Amino acid sequence: GTNPENGSYVMAIDQGTTSTRAVVIDHSGQPLGSGQKEHEQILPRAGWVEHDAKEIWRNTREVVGLALADANINRHSLAAVGITNQRETTVVWDRHTGEPIHNAVVWQDTRTQEICDRLAGDAGAEKYKDRTGLPLATYFAGPKVRWILDAVDGAQERAEAGDLLFGTMDTWLVWNMTGGPDGGRHVTDVTNASRTLLMNIDTLDWNAEICADMDIPTSMLPEIRSSSEVYGHGHKQGLLIDTPITGILGDQQAATFGQACFTPGQGKNTYGTGNFMLMNTGTEAVRSDNGLLTTVAYKLGEQDTVYALEGAVAVTGSLIQWLRDNLGLIADAAESETKAKKVDDNGGAYVVPAFSGLFAPYWKHDARGVLVGLTRYVNQNHICRAALESVAFQSAEVVGAMNDDSGKDLTELKVDGGMVVNETLMQFQADLLGVDVVRPQVIETTAMGAAYAAGLAVGFWASTDDVVANWAEDKRWSPQIDRDAAARKLRLWKKAVTRAFDWVD
Ligand code: G3P
Repeated sequence: GTNPENGSYVMAIDQGTTSTRAVVIDHSGQPLGSGQKEHEQILPRAGWVEHDAKEIWRNTREVVGLALADANINRHSLAAVGITNQRETTVVWDRHTGEPIHNAVVWQDTRTQEICDRLAGDAGAEKYKDRTGLPLATYFAGPKVRWILDAVDGAQERAEAGDLLFGTMDTWLVWNMTGGPDGGRHVTDVTNASRTLLMNIDTLDWNAEICADMDIPTSMLPEIRSSSEVYGHGHKQGLLIDTPITGILGDQQAATFGQACFTPGQGKNTYGTGNFMLMNTGTEAVRSDNGLLTTVAYKLGEQDTVYALEGAVAVTGSLIQWLRDNLGLIADAAESETKAKKVDDNGGAYVVPAFSGLFAPYWKHDARGVLVGLTRYVNQNHICRAALESVAFQSAEVVGAMNDDSGKDLTELKVDGGMVVNETLMQFQADLLGVDVVRPQVIETTAMGAAYAAGLAVGFWASTDDVVANWAEDKRWSPQIDRDAAARKLRLWKKAVTRAFDWVD
């Protein structure tokens, strides 16, 4: 519309691993306009991944403008703005200047392995699992903070003097949007805080003992808030002047919210750079016996905290990017499907993309990628197929762990994320799992989730019932192979996975 009422829309800002996106959403949950911009992946050496936090802040301002223009509205039409973000990626900056003291260290980055080993000591990688729900792994933010404070001259002293701030991307954006050095709000939400290894998952407070183990001054940590409340307003000279910022959710939690998984047992799987499956476990923080993470799903204002079990797989969509960028095997992501469809099966080839070690359910940091089962028969189409299959195999193993942890079998899988346009992949996923795979009409579930959290805080939506009412099914894939055939495929995959283990000396 060209002449919308004030406050008729909500904006979501989705700060992801490869790009930043802003989306304008209306009351019925339809996206009306958007803007998107990629940022540089800085890869200084094997296993290291960095982002320029200043570039991300610049891109955020740009995509907000693009989204408003695309929806043909201005900031007065926004009732609220919600933030969602790549989780765990860590920025440390100077609170007086707003300058980051180092590039952001990205969630995929494995440089903190030594720090994790040292912290684990004799207690092992599960040392903090009871308190935080997480294993000690390079994935999480706390050890990344430790690394930055060690790497930058004088940083520990500046942190102890109260001059440095830590944040995940949500915190970095909200601080900048609300004024930066001029009164910026230093906050995060419970979902992002649950990925730091520093928060007690039951009390939702920073754990003083773990912070002391990592020698991280608590003065640099943001205040932990709910996922849906007023954190602040756009700064008077900045972006989205006066607009209330009222939702923060880590991107996987936002997708779970946007998929309307509000009942214990409901879950979703997102196919992005990695795959992330979350299952709502209600108000109970269930500890996993099968390599899953215990995480906060969301907390709406003063309401009870809702928890989830999560199966995080590091490399799925980024494997397809690697086929494109590093091997030149395909020109774009769509071609991976075109090539995979030229063959009936993988020809015996399996790709295990353990580029960052293996996350769920194995948590093997010294694994590295392998391509196995090769014969003279295997061609590039088989390899494309094997790459796509690895995405589904990894998620099938996560579903197995979810079933084992919960004692119940999943009955259908809601999916979203960029790769769910790939029908060959979706069919193969259903074949492997033996349950239906269901795609919603709006696959922008991450942006939707952040918009809903923000809109609920200001009464734009009345309750989560509105989210349920706005959710609609688009397409469903049912299993087409028998269970014995599926079991055989999974058995071969598991054998391939063992070949990736124990590679790093
Ligand atoms: O935990 C990492 C996850 O939040 C990244 O998501 O979609 O940016 O790859 P994405």
